[in-house]
Amino acid sequence: MNLDGSAQDPEKREYSSVCVGREDDIKKSERMTAVVHDREVVIFYHKGEYHAMDIRCYHSGGPLHLGDIEDFDGRPCIVCPWHKYKITLATGEGLYQSINPKDPSAKPKWCSKGVKQRIHTVTVDNGNIYVTLSSEPFKCASDFYATGDFKVIKSSS
Ligand code: FES
Repeated sequence: MNLDGSAQDPEKREYSSVCVGREDDIKKSERMTAVVHDREVVIFYHKGEYHAMDIRCYHSGGPLHLGDIEDFDGRPCIVCPWHKYKITLATGEGLYQSINPKDPSAKPKWCSKGVKQRIHTVTVDNGNIYVTLSSEPFKCASDFYATGDFKVIKSSS
């Protein structure tokens, strides 16, 4: 249990979508930050697609809104500015390179650690950008920095 009485584990609940800004603005800036139901998120506009995720990196809470976007294995990723972890924009998977020790001449391969960063849904309506928080009940590593004592934005209630 957290101090505010909520459980650390995300429960299955439906969040209402929240307007976070104008389409015209994010198309110019290509990223924006917002607080949605007391959760800090970053929204990216990259190659014609919108992506939203928890703003603090699952590894150690780094500021993902300050990272660069690069393609790895053909997948657009945000590169955390703190320790350069790569997180896919579309799915929140952590990517890493591995080498087969039995085949040292082989090229490193990109592998997935699974979903580490919680991804939220972005919709556009009448020129406005809306974010709907993920209500998936699985425990996501980035929840640690988005909830409880590590949350920067405290609930006003
Ligand atoms: Fe993001 Fe370490 S905090 S890579």
